[in-house]
Amino acid sequence: MTTNITFTMVKPDAVEANNIGPILAKINQAGFKIEAMKYMRLSKEQAGQFYIIHKDRPFYGELVEYMSSGPIVAAVLSKSNAVADYRKLIGATDPSKAEEGTIRKLFAKSIAANAVHGSDSDENAQIEADFFFSKLERF
Ligand code: CMP
Repeated sequence: MTTNITFTMVKPDAVEANNIGPILAKINQAGFKIEAMKYMRLSKEQAGQFYIIHKDRPFYGELVEYMSSGPIVAAVLSKSNAVADYRKLIGATDPSKAEEGTIRKLFAKSIAANAVHGSDSDENAQIEADFFFSKLERF
């Protein structure tokens, strides 16, 4: 199977709880290579732009406030079947529905503060990776 990419963020709740290290360890143990990474804080405008596909959802305002409330770690990950395998590793959006051993089951606090983001398609993985990283920042 060809190698492809997914995009992830360690969200403000997981950064605040000192879980960057344990989450990155899970990512590496599951066989993902880190192609790009940065530690930064999104402005409200940037968070709103990143999640623009959700702009008509009732939780959009809360999501934008939350994602700009503290620093995040953004990363591009590569592996065969990256998008689907990463979604399996992180578990369901709502941590109360996530399987045992998944990143969200282990580290997420709520559906909004759910520890990590993971791309939902190859197309969105490219869009999201390009939102955060230039070609010079990808390895
Ligand atoms: P993420 O995978 O980053 O993609 C969109 C995010 O919206 C999702 O994770 C959740 O954090 C958030 N989200 C989805 N549904 C809800 C909800 N019902 N209430 C609050 N936030 C939500």
